[in-house]
Amino acid sequence: MPQGIGQPSMNCVHQTSAAVIPLSENKIQCPDSARFVTTILHQFAESLGNAIDAKDAHTSMHSDEVAQISHALALTMGMAPREADIIHVAGHLHDIGKIGVPDMVLRKQEPLNTVEWQAIRKHPEAGADIIRPVKALKSLGVVDMVLHHHERYDGKGYPSKLAGVQIPVGARIIALADSLSAMLQNRPYRKARTFESAHAEIIRCSGTQFDPRVVEAFRKSSATIEMIIATLSGPGTEA
Ligand SMILES: [Fe+2]
Ligand SMILES: [Fe+2]
Repeated sequence: MPQGIGQPSMNCVHQTSAAVIPLSENKIQCPDSARFVTTILHQFAESLGNAIDAKDAHTSMHSDEVAQISHALALTMGMAPREADIIHVAGHLHDIGKIGVPDMVLRKQEPLNTVEWQAIRKHPEAGADIIRPVKALKSLGVVDMVLHHHERYDGKGYPSKLAGVQIPVGARIIALADSLSAMLQNRPYRKARTFESAHAEIIRCSGTQFDPRVVEAFRKSSATIEMIIATLSGPGTEA
């Protein structure tokens, strides 16, 4: 049997869900035969996520963290393990479009100007374009999750200003995981928040930036998620 996502060599922290209730909207198609494919995709996605994280010392482990937090949130929401695995793969790949953003913009210490922000804001579409040729990623919904991971629940995000359940559920999950991971990292223009402070900010943004159901899953699984982050950070690394 092929090794699956989250088995020991993947370094992923898993939880089990007693009641597996797939969300009705945005149901992810994942036929049984896809198990082997998703294992290979996971390994490849993890490699690409590591490559993008290597571009910026401040975002070390960010893609891995987003993948694992997203997986935990999906399971807590009652999604089937294979659906959570696919969201995990999308988490690894969510920022792959930043490969096209100049390093001097990604690493800039000062506030970004308008042109530089425009370059950053293209990364969801650039990322979707990069992975779209991989038919399995398209059919599993990963391309759309990458494309829409900066949408907001209130419709004020980008690139498509989708709102509510128009946003693929995987993208709504990754959006929260991405924000949490970002808040916990030092950036050139601000200090890292504590987990407690980031937790409060996510609760505050329920219904505006984030899907309230994802926020509720975060509230329920915050101890697990804090452990995931601590495990990835390890001794001697930045929070
Ligand atoms: Fe992973
Ligand atoms: Fe992003």
